[in-house]
Amino acid sequence: MSKKMHIKMNVNGKDEEFLAEPRELLIYTLRERLNITGPHIGCETSHCGACTVTINGKSVKSCTMFVAQADGAEVTTIEGLGGPENLHPLQEAFKEHHGLQCGYCTPGMITRATKLLEEIPNPTEEEIRFGMAGNICRCTGYQNIVKSIQAAAAEMNAAKEAAE
Ligand code: FES
Ligand code: FES
Repeated sequence: MSKKMHIKMNVNGKDEEFLAEPRELLIYTLRERLNITGPHIGCETSHCGACTVTINGKSVKSCTMFVAQADGAEVTTIEGLGGPENLHPLQEAFKEHHGLQCGYCTPGMITRATKLLEEIPNPTEEEIRFGMAGNICRCTGYQNIVKSIQAAAAEMNAAKEAAE
């Protein structure tokens, strides 16, 4: 048994504090320790991106990070972006434009897409496909995911302009 570490982190705006073995992967912390089960596990080789969350402003595959590395971090998962009563524009757009089927890749896709749209608020199709290349989907063929992200970008840019 390795020695447990004292970890503190803020997940979706809530402070969490616990003891964890250094080898605990962040995806298991989220899913099994904190019961935040939106982020999923689709591989063991860091390819699929189903586990994508945002850590201190960056898209991170939480299967490839130890919880010890996230000590002191701010973590956002799909649950922190919006819920059934207050959908994030990307959640709304994925629903409207059929950007999901089984839904297993969706939490990672949408969490990644929030960062992509921060990085490039008005992306071309090519920039969307490249920017989302770390997230694999077995159902949609990606076409409607691209459409959903384009629609959300248009919506978010219009809302920003209206607010100015
Ligand atoms: S579970 Fe596949 S990249 Fe994390
Ligand atoms: S919707 Fe099924 S894997 Fe993407």
